[in-house]
Amino acid sequence: MPLMSRIAWVDGRYVEHGEAYAVHIEDRGYQFADGVYEVIHIEDGRLVDECPHLDRLARSLGALAIAAPMARRPLQRILREIARRNGVEHGLVYLQVTRGVARRRHAFPDAARPVMVVTARSEAHPAPALLEDGVAVVTLPDQRWARCDIKSVALLANVLARQAASAAGAAEAWLVDRDGRITEGGSSNAWIVTVDGRLVTRPADNAILDGITRRAILRLASEQGMKVEQRGFTSREAMAAREAFFSNSSSWVMPVTRIDDTVIANGRAGSLSRSLNAAYRARIAELPRMADGLTPMGNWTP
Ligand SMILES: Cc1ncc(COP(=O)(O)O)c(C=O)c1O
Repeated sequence: MPLMSRIAWVDGRYVEHGEAYAVHIEDRGYQFADGVYEVIHIEDGRLVDECPHLDRLARSLGALAIAAPMARRPLQRILREIARRNGVEHGLVYLQVTRGVARRRHAFPDAARPVMVVTARSEAHPAPALLEDGVAVVTLPDQRWARCDIKSVALLANVLARQAASAAGAAEAWLVDRDGRITEGGSSNAWIVTVDGRLVTRPADNAILDGITRRAILRLASEQGMKVEQRGFTSREAMAAREAFFSNSSSWVMPVTRIDDTVIANGRAGSLSRSLNAAYRARIAELPRMADGLTPMGNWTP
């Protein structure tokens, strides 16, 4: 691939990534974290589950009464163009919308124009060995706000949790609510498989982000005839599970083989995690490529 400079889309213009520092100092995203975002994975030139990501973006914007920055089709074109200009075949697109620029006061401004930023970067999918060996997670109190269903850019509690996980040599933090139940990871949803083979994840209430990968896994699991329970589970139950994993757009199904100091089962990826990962990969391979043009509502893996 020819060497290309990174390009970002900033409030209406394609600009050099290194020059993309022109967001206003009174942008409410900067001052109040008053904005939302999405991350869409790109696999082999395919935007994965673009449609539900764009639907969730619309939902997050609606929940915060931020106007959509543009219609869906031009947005889909920008996602493809930013991926193309950055030569991303494997990686992700990041898109963020803030309420816009206004004189600083807490309540919504009377008129503000939403500001959108889109970037793309290449990133390798987790190495096959990692998918076999799995990763460690640590449990931490969930210190976030009460609307984790909104994909808001206010991620400080997630940042602190992920930093604590990283300092402990773990790949993710599993956050525990006041009732002792795991809500989700710092940037992923949490799952276990019980000893009698039931797949368990928390229902999509306000305490978690309803992951797009989570939804895909629920669909694939029911197609494969797995028994699925959407309910909370404690760290103690997770430590005694047959399998554990987390899910998000960049890792899909990531086996968890250690929780705090407890090794899960035999310390290797379980068969259900593997088969879900394989099924998702196969489904993604059926999606049209970005180069083939727009799909009416955006790609997804029904
Ligand atoms: C807090 C949180 N939960 C869950 C997820 C998984 O969501 P998705 O599968 O849509 O990537 C993410 C993704 O970044 C997240 O930040």
